[in-house]
Amino acid sequence: MWSMSLSPPFSFSLSLLLFLTSLLSTPPPSSTATISSFNISLSPWHPTLNQTLISPSSTFAAGFHPIPTSPNLFTFSIWFNHLNTTTITSSTLKPTLIWSANQSSPVTASGALVITPSGSIGLFENSSNQNLWPSSPASSSNSTNLTLTDRGELAFGTWSSFDFPTDTIVATQNMTGKTVSSRNGKFQFVNSTNLVFNRSDLYWSSAFAFQTLQQDGSVIAPGNTESSLFSSDFGANRVRRLTLDDDGNLRIYSFNPASGQWVIGWEAIPEPCTIHGTCGPNSICITDGVNNTPSCICPPGFRPLSDVVNGGCERNIPLTENTKFIRLDYVNFSDGSNPTGIDSYSFTACQGQCLSDPKCLAFSFKYGLASGFEPGYCMLQLERLRNGYWNPDTELAMFIRVDNKSEPDGSNFTGMMNVMETTCPVLISLPLPPTESNTTTRNIVIVSTLFAAELISGLLFFWAFLKKFIKYRDMARTLGLEFLPAGGPKRFSYAELKDATDNFSNIIGRGGFGDVYKGELSDHRVVAVKCLKNVTGGDADFWAEVTIIARMHHLNLVRLWGFCAEKGQRILVYEYVPNGSLDRFLFPRALQGTENQSSEGETHAVGNFGDKPILDWNIRYRIALGVARAIAYLHEECLEWVLHCDIKPENILLGDDFCPKISDFGLAKLKKKEAMVSMSRIRGTRGYMAPEWIMMDPITPKADVYSFGMVLLEIVSGVRNHEIQGSKLDSEDWYFPSWAFEKAFKEMKVEDILDTHIKHCYDSRAHFDMVNRMVKTAMWCLQDRVEMRPSMGKVAKMLEGTVEITEPKKPTIFYIGDD
Ligand SMILES: *[C@@H]1O[C@H](CO)[C@@H](O)[C@H](O)[C@H]1NC(C)=O
Ligand SMILES: *[C@@H]1O[C@H](CO)[C@@H](O)[C@H](O)[C@H]1NC(C)=O
Ligand SMILES: *[C@@H]1O[C@H](CO)[C@@H](O)[C@H](O)[C@H]1NC(C)=O
Ligand SMILES: *[C@@H]1O[C@H](CO)[C@@H](O)[C@H](O)[C@H]1NC(C)=O
Ligand SMILES: *[C@@H]1O[C@H](CO)[C@@H](O)[C@H](O)[C@H]1NC(C)=O
Ligand SMILES: *[C@@H]1O[C@H](CO)[C@@H](O)[C@H](O)[C@H]1NC(C)=O
Ligand SMILES: *[C@@H]1O[C@H](CO)[C@@H](O)[C@H](O)[C@H]1NC(C)=O
Ligand SMILES: *[C@@H]1O[C@H](CO)[C@@H](O)[C@H](O)[C@H]1NC(C)=O
Ligand SMILES: *[C@@H]1O[C@H](CO)[C@@H](O)[C@H](O)[C@H]1NC(C)=O
Ligand SMILES: *[C@@H]1O[C@H](CO)[C@@H](O)[C@H](O)[C@H]1NC(C)=O
Ligand SMILES: *[C@@H]1O[C@H](CO)[C@@H](O)[C@H](O)[C@H]1NC(C)=O
Ligand SMILES: *[C@@H]1O[C@H](CO)[C@@H](O)[C@H](O)[C@H]1NC(C)=O
Repeated sequence: MWSMSLSPPFSFSLSLLLFLTSLLSTPPPSSTATISSFNISLSPWHPTLNQTLISPSSTFAAGFHPIPTSPNLFTFSIWFNHLNTTTITSSTLKPTLIWSANQSSPVTASGALVITPSGSIGLFENSSNQNLWPSSPASSSNSTNLTLTDRGELAFGTWSSFDFPTDTIVATQNMTGKTVSSRNGKFQFVNSTNLVFNRSDLYWSSAFAFQTLQQDGSVIAPGNTESSLFSSDFGANRVRRLTLDDDGNLRIYSFNPASGQWVIGWEAIPEPCTIHGTCGPNSICITDGVNNTPSCICPPGFRPLSDVVNGGCERNIPLTENTKFIRLDYVNFSDGSNPTGIDSYSFTACQGQCLSDPKCLAFSFKYGLASGFEPGYCMLQLERLRNGYWNPDTELAMFIRVDNKSEPDGSNFTGMMNVMETTCPVLISLPLPPTESNTTTRNIVIVSTLFAAELISGLLFFWAFLKKFIKYRDMARTLGLEFLPAGGPKRFSYAELKDATDNFSNIIGRGGFGDVYKGELSDHRVVAVKCLKNVTGGDADFWAEVTIIARMHHLNLVRLWGFCAEKGQRILVYEYVPNGSLDRFLFPRALQGTENQSSEGETHAVGNFGDKPILDWNIRYRIALGVARAIAYLHEECLEWVLHCDIKPENILLGDDFCPKISDFGLAKLKKKEAMVSMSRIRGTRGYMAPEWIMMDPITPKADVYSFGMVLLEIVSGVRNHEIQGSKLDSEDWYFPSWAFEKAFKEMKVEDILDTHIKHCYDSRAHFDMVNRMVKTAMWCLQDRVEMRPSMGKVAKMLEGTVEITEPKKPTIFYIGDD
């Protein structure tokens, strides 16, 4: 296994270091001569001349540029020369190349750019007469000049560099029908529509052909004056470019004059592992949740190939007659040769098919959903295993064929919780949440439509379930696959759970939804068993809900393994999360005092108040990011639109390595059934509730965003927002977010709001960026006007640093009960 990621603080200090060294080592630019046009009397132009061709406003420059890997080789290139920045003089920045003439054939110091007496332009290596200039134009007159325009276009007569783009398209450049290639030559953006690897392997398609990147940050389609795609800083007056990077992702960058850096405003692919060719043959791509960087891992039975740049794996032992299969959860190889789909419910039949075909290297399998809406799924992977990736969204397991004797049975791909550092990435691209509406009637319509739809699907589900359930259960039992993640939740009997929890004796928490007990199943898995109170509705409804909750796979959500619905009992069986909830780590002093009132919030591990370690800044950041991604997943990714409605530190459990896991998600729906129309307002907890709960305004996902903002501020400050409010500063209009805002952005003393327990560990060089991002994001989440708050997907990106965070406005207090 090898990993290509750096932790954020490390990469931050590394880039700082690189920046400082670049300041020191950049030679003074004064030795270069600039020309505004290149003509026959200046020909030939050798790389040693140190000469650059400058556009009229000097935004762009062109000339021979040494290639990074070998300073004695040059390409004739165009780059951004002068960018307006307020902080750094642009001459010290590494130039950003936008075009190169035939970058695959660089020339040596004795190469030359010439205009011939016959009036054509040529790029030649030393004495060779092979012209390397792309599609060398024949000009009628030797008085033609080579010029560089302020759009970044190199022009010679009718010839234009815009007709031969390399990896970058600049604003206003027409890209209709053009092919853009990444610098490393691996990836192409073909016909301004499709991203391909290795010239033909398609991995992304745009809904429309790109024509022009406009100055305002939008991309328009041909014949369509309407913009069809917007970068996140749309409208800002910025220098922009569209680049196909060497990782195969297509991005729009804009230059931020304040920071002197290029920032990403849009990217085609949020999940890098879906880019074909990211990992070599046979290997499995996994995204590290913190930086969203991919790593390549060999499956069991394979070892890394050392001679291939991209990794890739080879078999330890060639396959013989005597083979077996090893199960890899959530893994799919999206490009087997001739993947063969078989519509089959039977695992044995699927395995048999693969065994009988010598070309079959693996098969993927998933049981049909109990609802009957999706049939079972079996796909054979023949001849080759390519573009493997791990993602819970695949909902299937891959069974890989290995040698029977020499390979061990286990694999590291069961659940994979320990390999991933904090979060599993989510594709923030699927169904858009319904547009928010402030009109109550519209809300009632939406609510009742959802309700009707749920009722109908609940009924359908119930019949399908009855038919399939027994068959499915027996099949799973015989195969020992009850817990295959794709199989749906397991139904437990009351007696089983009574046994597992030792007659419900070990209570580990009391929450608004009911008591939680620790237990151990007969297969020795440790579980948290939650007995729900006050849940109404029939069995069919309950089963439908539970299936939906169990389908939500995200590393930062507590996994639901099963349920029990017997004799009026409503019990949920969750994975047991060992470290307890976040509040115990954030507010250790307060524990003794609040022990007795813990019935309000969910508390796991009651009775174990031993010394908790103090969470360091990196862990706090990872917790914040993991929680943000999980809520974003709930809001934007799930088929059903799920609001959590009760985000608070008590509902954030910490697993091994302090990987955060949200509990109680989806339960608000079960409860809401009771009082669907009046939209029960008793959910939520004081101090974390958004103003709209009190103001009786419609509740949207932005209510969760507010609660998250409060939690984020508490993660940074280590104090409970309402506790300070009550005890420390006894003033009427005292409001924690406003106070923090004043400290951080008016007095510029962010240290004053940091957790006093780890203040001494705060190193402004290493942590400022991270902490500042957390505080700024919190401020945006805590805006009292719903429409000012960003969506949860945006919040996750703000924390990641993939979108820029503009200066927040001061959150203002809302007056409870005041008009
Ligand atoms: C080439 O450019 C130089 C400087 O711009 C100018 O002095 C000279 O007359 C030009 N020669 C021709 C042939 O255009
Ligand atoms: C070009 O620049 C390099 C290094 O900056 C210098 O060594 C060289 O002498 C310069 N050549 C000319 C012709 O000015
Ligand atoms: C830089 O700023 C100057 C003056 O403020 C302006 O004229 C010029 O167009 C700007 N250049 C770019 C590339 O934005
Ligand atoms: C051109 O290349 C030849 C051999 O390839 C070499 O001997 C000669 O020195 C080169 N000319 C220059 C000007 O570098
Ligand atoms: C350019 O072409 C004209 C004829 O078209 C010729 O007389 C002149 O010498 C050429 N100039 C150069 C510098 O070769
Ligand atoms: C680039 O250079 C190679 C020779 O090294 C040549 O075969 C090719 O045609 C050139 N490409 C273009 C676009 O001129
Ligand atoms: C090239 O530039 C010179 C001045 O630098 C100008 O006189 C001449 O007309 C230009 N030639 C063309 C073909 O534009
Ligand atoms: C863009 O280029 C295509 C093909 O070269 C051409 O048909 C189209 O008219 C151009 N569009 C614009 C707006 O220049
Ligand atoms: C690009 O477009 C042309 C014509 O529109 C089409 O024939 C070709 O298949 C397209 N190529 C790809 C890779 O989409
Ligand atoms: C690229 O495609 C060619 C055939 O078109 C194939 O032989 C080669 O193995 C592929 N390379 C990779 C890295 O997939
Ligand atoms: C798995 O990969 C195959 C291609 O081999 C693809 O058809 C299928 O949709 C993928 N399944 C999932 C669940 O992503
Ligand atoms: C699982 O991963 C650990 C650590 O990366 C490694 O030592 C072990 O061999 C792996 N086990 C299997 C079965 O691949």
